[in-house]
Amino acid sequence: MQYAETYQRSISESEAFWAERANDIPWFTAPQTILSKDANDVARWYADGTLNTCFCAVDYHVQQGRGDQTALIYDSPVTQTVSRYSYAELMDWTARVAGGLVELGVAKGDVVIIYMPMVPETIVAMLACARIGAVHSVVFGGFAADELAMRIDDATPKVVLAATCGIETERVIPYQPLLNGALDLARHKPAHVVMLERPQAPAELNAPRDIDWASWAAAAEPVACVPVAATDPLYILYTSGTTGKPKGIVRDNGGHAVALKYSMSAVYDVGIGDVYWAASDVGWVVGHSYIVYGPLLAGCTTVVYEGKPVKTPDAGAFWRVLAEHKVNSFFVAPTAFRAIKKEDPECKLLAQYDISSLKYQFVAGERLDPPTYYWLEQHLQVPIIDHWWQTETGWSICANLAGIELLPSRAGSCGVPAPGWDLRVLDESGQEVAAGEEGAIVVKAPLPPSAFATVWRDHERFQQSYWSQFPGFYLTGDGGYQDADGYVYVMGRTDDVINVAGHRLSTGRIEEVVAEHSAVAECAVVGIHDAEKGQVPVGLLLLKDGINVDDESLVAELVQSVRDNVGPIANFKRALVVTRLPKTRSGKILRQVIRKMIDGDAYTVPSTIDDPNIIPELEATLREQGFIDA
Ligand code: COA
Ligand code: AMP
Repeated sequence: MQYAETYQRSISESEAFWAERANDIPWFTAPQTILSKDANDVARWYADGTLNTCFCAVDYHVQQGRGDQTALIYDSPVTQTVSRYSYAELMDWTARVAGGLVELGVAKGDVVIIYMPMVPETIVAMLACARIGAVHSVVFGGFAADELAMRIDDATPKVVLAATCGIETERVIPYQPLLNGALDLARHKPAHVVMLERPQAPAELNAPRDIDWASWAAAAEPVACVPVAATDPLYILYTSGTTGKPKGIVRDNGGHAVALKYSMSAVYDVGIGDVYWAASDVGWVVGHSYIVYGPLLAGCTTVVYEGKPVKTPDAGAFWRVLAEHKVNSFFVAPTAFRAIKKEDPECKLLAQYDISSLKYQFVAGERLDPPTYYWLEQHLQVPIIDHWWQTETGWSICANLAGIELLPSRAGSCGVPAPGWDLRVLDESGQEVAAGEEGAIVVKAPLPPSAFATVWRDHERFQQSYWSQFPGFYLTGDGGYQDADGYVYVMGRTDDVINVAGHRLSTGRIEEVVAEHSAVAECAVVGIHDAEKGQVPVGLLLLKDGINVDDESLVAELVQSVRDNVGPIANFKRALVVTRLPKTRSGKILRQVIRKMIDGDAYTVPSTIDDPNIIPELEATLREQGFIDA
């Protein structure tokens, strides 16, 4: 069936459509109820089915005779390692680590935080939690102790699985001090920390809380997969919202397994034995869905890459991995290609490698800007597919569905709605806009399988943030338009979330940290355009009366403070002291106006502005200080 028919059917006969897709999963108990409502009145998929996601992703393949197939390739230029693990090896390893968790008292429904870099043990840790029905919550290594502490307090893990360090190019980033700092800050105290000692950073174990991973895993008895309900949580993944407090997006087991398995064939056009590589990090949703669960559910070989697009050792790093492991489908954030393009504009290093195994180049995480799209098209000679999705959805809302019908790609567009996503573009009053007109991109309920059904321990926030503005429609937080042929163009967030080098961050959180400084009365942080990272945050600072500080040293202190409290990935490097901030009469800072002013975009000053004179005054200051191009 071609795209248009498939899509139409997925919307008009959604239950029948997703009932068929469910047949592709080895359930313990196949669901009879396909779509129903839970106690919160939220649509849920496969409520009476039982399964185990680790079984579907690992053991099932061994049972089917694929035990010798490579499940995982660990490629780590930062440690000069390439190692391979078969499905049978992955199963045995996972079963033992799961047994180790059981011995520590972790049971179905308990939370385990994973604070680990891109090593195979991290993937094993995630699968081991799934195996026993525990709920994992992976925290990205680039976050500071404060951010980790917030997640520990919200998720209340029984155990933390950690490693002694991450490696950033040639820099060793010790994780233990960060973790210990977070554990000191957090009110919740996990019973145990299991520490994977990497050769680059020795472990300092604080017994009896801290346990050495190697001896723990070696001594553990393997355990079998535990059946869980389709609607039981598989993981919590924290993501940035508009406030400083991250949102715990909860993913279920059943809908997730079905949608991800489907996406591997429909979106990525890969299946058993194909090599799939998502060059992201397991700390992000891309890593959850397409380094771990998706490729393994589909019986692919997944590549776990501990390196960068450049400097590990050069801008040919990606081409080397594609060639060496004969990757069929590759997925990465556009910012990574911009980093390569900066170092090797003519893409000369590609000539050294044979990447003929590559069938498609997928990108997501931020808008694929047309110059990068054309650069990729010119050099890679395969379809370049931008697709759009979010932590909340777990898979793409829009894509060019290569496995159904490859449509011609259009620069600047993330493709057409994927099956199951009833996408609309609305104006402020909730009316659908005409083709080509910008508005809020929303999705009509029910959302398809894998989409979140709540925020961890804060269902009120789920309702408020996502469903209250346009009742019956999921507010994606992204704005954009759909053209007359149905192609969607996502132009950016309509809220205070920013996207820095493919990392989703809250300007509200950065503002909180900046505002804590004793000299700062008020501040506004906005994400401005950056040629390499897509966006970077900048701050406008209003100082307390009577404070006399050197602006340069103040900014340096604030930069360090954001680094220490949010993390280096915030990339907060610039701030400016101003005398006034533009506000509405009710006191809301006009962040959109500031952002557009700095980016040189057209902006409308709302009639509710407190004092219109501030606009030319601010523009002059920003220009004078080099925040606006002359
Ligand atoms: N642990 C510790 N520190 C980390 C880190 C981690 N896991 N990841 C990044 N950092 C640090 C970096 O070392 C850097 O530190 P510095 O300021 O001391 O130099 C800082 O955080 C900023 O990192 P980043 O903006 O990511 O720049 P980079 O040069 O390290 O990497 C890219 C550039 C393009 C490779 C990287 O941003 C990237 O891979 N982005 C894609 C993210 C992604 O996959 N998103 C998911 C959607 S597809
Ligand atoms: P995350 O939840 O970290 O995956 O970030 C999701 C956000 O990243 C989305 O809401 C978008 O703002 C942005 N995003 C992801 N993919 C795309 C894309 N293909 N085009 C434009 N924006 C994207």
